[in-house]
Amino acid sequence: MLIDTYGRVATDLRVSLTDRCNLRCTYCMPEEGLQWLAKPDLLTDDEIVRLIGLAVTSLGVEEVRFTGGEPLLRPGLVGIVERVAALAPRPQMSLTTNGIGLKRTATALKAAGLDRVNVSLDTLRPDVFKTLTRRDRHKDVLEGLEAARDAGLTPVKVNAVLMPGMNEDEAPDLLAWAVEHGYELRFIEQMPLDAQHGWKREGMVTAGDILASLRTRFELTEEGADERGSAPAERWLVDGGPHRVGVIASVTRPFCRACDRTRLTADGQIRTCLFAREETDLRAALRSGAPDEEVARIWRLAMWGKKAGSGLDDPSFLQPDRPMSAIGG
Ligand code: GTP
Ligand code: 5AD
Ligand code: SF4
Repeated sequence: MLIDTYGRVATDLRVSLTDRCNLRCTYCMPEEGLQWLAKPDLLTDDEIVRLIGLAVTSLGVEEVRFTGGEPLLRPGLVGIVERVAALAPRPQMSLTTNGIGLKRTATALKAAGLDRVNVSLDTLRPDVFKTLTRRDRHKDVLEGLEAARDAGLTPVKVNAVLMPGMNEDEAPDLLAWAVEHGYELRFIEQMPLDAQHGWKREGMVTAGDILASLRTRFELTEEGADERGSAPAERWLVDGGPHRVGVIASVTRPFCRACDRTRLTADGQIRTCLFAREETDLRAALRSGAPDEEVARIWRLAMWGKKAGSGLDDPSFLQPDRPMSAIGG
């Protein structure tokens, strides 16, 4: 079991498969991209499958989410999914993607055993998409979403980050569109994880702003705490249901007390928290020939050191050195 000193048990493993991305969202990366991890530093497919296997068979992990950067850029993704699906017990498997490659891969991913996808889409306006992501790929994302739904990678969830002066007025339009297409929309408060360190609390669109904007067009009824469990998203029924909308308010309504996550970076570091400043190196252990029991011991010890919360509200808060794209969200 991966338990910490606050009694939280991590059953949800997020695995970043690459730090590279084919978009350049302004809240994440600079125009020129970043200094990518070097190939020899990345875990191999075998190393990733070994660590997931260990997590599932010996450490109590029940759900695995593949993230990036953009995880569809990892050449071995379908093979990794296939091998994880063959583990006993078989974990739930999901993927967080920008959607661009889904048109090409959705059917193969479903056949390999992937259960569902979350797709990032912040705007319905192609011109705003181009400004926000610095790439003209809006149509590819919409087509990717449809391909995921048609392949049965459901429920398909859509993640939207709203930013002032860019897309902050789009919440009701995005929700109407998501309801129409059968996607579950969640709004995410912008977090201080951008590589440029440009985040400002004063400038962000809050959960409160988003809900007020949605309520100009929809009736929202809050779901009970029981349904939420440890999920980051608080959810509301839209106009009495059955459709729902979520808000992930990491900044204004942190949910760290219920956190059930452990994270593995593409270069084999365990992160106990999105905002952690420390990491624990599993790659070195793997590559020095450590047996499974030793790797498990290191992982358990790392989680035992997990802090109570993100520290976002501490006056001394310092953004982690690793940007969101190299953590995996
Ligand atoms: P579901 O199981 O589908 O609800 O997944 P999810 O919402 O956990 O995953 P996703 O990758 O779609 O993440 C959506 C947003 O939630 C991203 O901005 C993540 O950074 C954020 N998020 C995910 N896990 C955590 C967490 O443990 N803490 C915080 N603060 N944010 C998180
Ligand atoms: N704040 C909030 N969400 C972010 N994402 C990327 N960067 C940030 C940020 N700074 C979102 C992506 C994706 C999810 C994994 O995290 O849009 O949907
Ligand atoms: Fe978990 Fe850290 Fe996110 Fe809080 S901020 S929910 S502790 S990962």
